[in-house]
Order: sequence, then C-alpha cells, then structure tokens
Amino acid sequence: MNASLSYAHLNAAAQTFGTPLYVYHAEKIEQQYQNLLTQFELTQTRFFYACKALTNIHILKVIKEMGCNIDCSSINEVKLALHVGFLPSNILYTSNSVGFDEISTAVELGVHVNIDSLSNLEKFGQQFGASKAVGVRIRPDVMAGGNLKISTGHDKSKFGIPVAQMDALKSIQEKYKINVRTLHIHTGSEIKDVAVFIKSAEVFDTLLPHFPTVEVLDFGGGFKVPYEPGEQGTDMALLGAEVNKAMKQLSEKYGRNLIAWFEPGKFMVSEAGFFIAKVNVLKTSGSLTFAGLNTGLNHLIRPMFYDAYHHIDNLTNPDKPLKQYAVVGNICETDTFAWDRAIPTIEEGDLLVFYNAGAYGYEMASNYNARFKPAQVLYQNGEAKLISRADQFEDLLTLQVPL
Ligand code: LLP
Repeated sequence: MNASLSYAHLNAAAQTFGTPLYVYHAEKIEQQYQNLLTQFELTQTRFFYACKALTNIHILKVIKEMGCNIDCSSINEVKLALHVGFLPSNILYTSNSVGFDEISTAVELGVHVNIDSLSNLEKFGQQFGASKAVGVRIRPDVMAGGNLKISTGHDKSKFGIPVAQMDALKSIQEKYKINVRTLHIHTGSEIKDVAVFIKSAEVFDTLLPHFPTVEVLDFGGGFKVPYEPGEQGTDMALLGAEVNKAMKQLSEKYGRNLIAWFEPGKFMVSEAGFFIAKVNVLKTSGSLTFAGLNTGLNHLIRPMFYDAYHHIDNLTNPDKPLKQYAVVGNICETDTFAWDRAIPTIEEGDLLVFYNAGAYGYEMASNYNARFKPAQVLYQNGEAKLISRADQFEDLLTLQVPL
C-alpha cells in the first residue's frame, strides 16, 4: 500500500473548506506506523508518537486507534492524550526545564516520565523515593540532526543530564534509591545517519552496569523523512536491523530483557500533511517573479525559521510549463517560502500545495499580524472531515479583557 492523497482530493478539500488549509491523510499515518512495526521485528519495541509535531485530537485518535503510544513534551499534551483516551501506561512525558510540579502531576497521573536535570531528579527522589519508576534523559555529547536549531545531543545543548555528570546522577539515585527504569537519549531531528542511533546504544552500554534497574532504552525520535524530490530519508530497514542487533547484544551482556522505545514525530505525520494556499498577487521585478500567497510565516514557519525545504506544486495547473518563482507570504516582514523555485506556471487565483506539512506546520502557527489560523481537515476512508475550523474575528478577542 502506498497511501497518498490525489490532487483531486486536495482540490476538493480546498473547494469545500477554503484556503489557506491544512489537509491530513489518516491512511498515510497508518502506513508509516506499519512500516515501523515491520522494521523492528523485536515485538517488544514500542513506539510513542511525539505529538508535539501535530496535536489535533482527531489525529491523536487515529494514532491511538492504530495501537501506537504517545510521547508528550508538556503536561498539557499529557492531558490532551488522556482526553483522547490513551491509557496512562501508553503515555510518555519527556520533560525539559519544567517546574517540578509538572513532573509530580505526570507521575500522579501514572504516565511514564523522563527527567532531564539533576535538580528535578533530586526533587523526584525527595517526593517519590523508590516508590515510582522513572526515566532519565542523558545528553551524550553527540552532534546530530538536520541543523543546529534541531540538534539536541551536543555538548552545548540544554537537553538532558550531561554524560560527564554520571557520578552525580548515580549519587542522587543511590541517596533516594530511585528506581531508574529508562535511559533516554534524543539527539535531534532529521537524523539520516543510522550510526547516530548506534552511538546512543554505545552510551547506554557504558551506563547500564551502574543502573541495574534499567529495563528500557529510549532512543528518542528524529528519523529523517524525504522533503526534496529524490531525497532519501533514514534507511528504516537498516535502522531496524542495527537496533535489533544492538538490543540483543546488550540484553545478553547484562542478562536483562531490555526493551527499545522510540519517539517519532516527523516520521509519523510529516508526509501525511499538505498545506494549500491561494496566489493573491503576481509581481515581477527584473528577472524575479513573486507569487504572493494568502498565507505567510504565521501559518508555516519552517522555511524562514530553519531554512527548511518544502516541495511546492501548482495544484490548479500542475501540467503547465515550469517557471521560476519567489514564493512569498502576506506578512509584514520577509516571509519567503522558496527563493527561486521552478513551479508550473502560476496565474493569480491558482492554488499552491506545500508537501511535508503534517509535522510542525499548523502546530507552530500563530496569529501574527492578527491573521486567522487556518482550518485543518482530515481525510479518512476517502472522506474529508473538518478537524479544526479557521479562526474568526471574535477569536482574536477571546482572550483579551474587553475594553
Ligand atoms: N523526542 C524528543 C524528546 C524530542 O524533543 C523530539 C522533537 C522528538 C522526540 C520528535 O522528533 P522528530 O521525530 O519529530 O524529529 N520544529 C522542528 C523540529 C523540532 C523537534 C523538537 N523535538 C522542525 O520543524 O523541524
């Protein structure tokens, strides 16, 4: 099965729900999950969808119904997951720089928790002692990921407990007899190189002798998906084979039945999402042609924030001859989606479609310039369903104290 939405589907959704519009495809999300299950033959490997990529509850329901677990990065994401009906035992909360009250709430709710500072681990010990199992996030001092902004494992990164501070970690663990069940490492997003994950296994290997209660090795997320035409993502078959091998070796070496966990975000939803916008204005300046859209960095910030590439096609006229465009937004500062991109010849009023819009697209959208956030639509079993409406003017005032 190669699940994909046709341009007829996307055009129909734009017709019905207007633009700008985010459109997602449930079957594609399922296909990605099935792909993971196939590659990781160790039946005990567990996948937790990193829901920070896209938290709409209808998407979370799709994730839950296909049997996937969920990874959360805030207590509110935990509450959304519970709201959707995930069992606490299927929810993971990987905290970063949070007040201890969030950790304590999560523990009381019965979800798995990864702690990423010595300070919060000490507070955990004081409050819970040995009564609850917990995970610790380690910073392995490894540089990985698509760019510095999305790299989290290097030696200047704020994430995790530096591997060099293992003695301090161990003494807190011993002082409170903390039941450390999970060791966690997440080195970044868009990691193509399988060796990075094996490096995590090597770091786990150095720690395992000191933490005899550890049963879970959490490798985080960060699998790369293709963005540009012809680009390769992480070789999932190779990753599965290598991780399975490493897990088997570590389990044998330590005489423990170690289980691997992963927290994929982009891998699950990036390719299942499309963002559709309309060309309001064509403007030429010398050799440049600007296509000005009815959207901007307020709706899709990745190109401006990370220099991220999103493939763009002309949804209205995909077969016209290619022409070069600067594709720009309608925001009051430079918000260029693509600086010089070949796109089938555009006329004002045409719809453009952005690929890979499922992860960190809508989720990072804002109301900058007091513009409305777009609607979101989910295709499932061939039917398009509205899963969040666009803002209306009143929404801009909802949180503001009336004059
Ligand atoms: N686990 C942890 C602890 C994480 O911090 C993240 C992502 C993930 C899992 C999921 O990573 P993924 O599989 O999605 O690469 N907004 C950026 C990506 C930031 C990722 C933050 N943490 C972007 O649009 O590229």
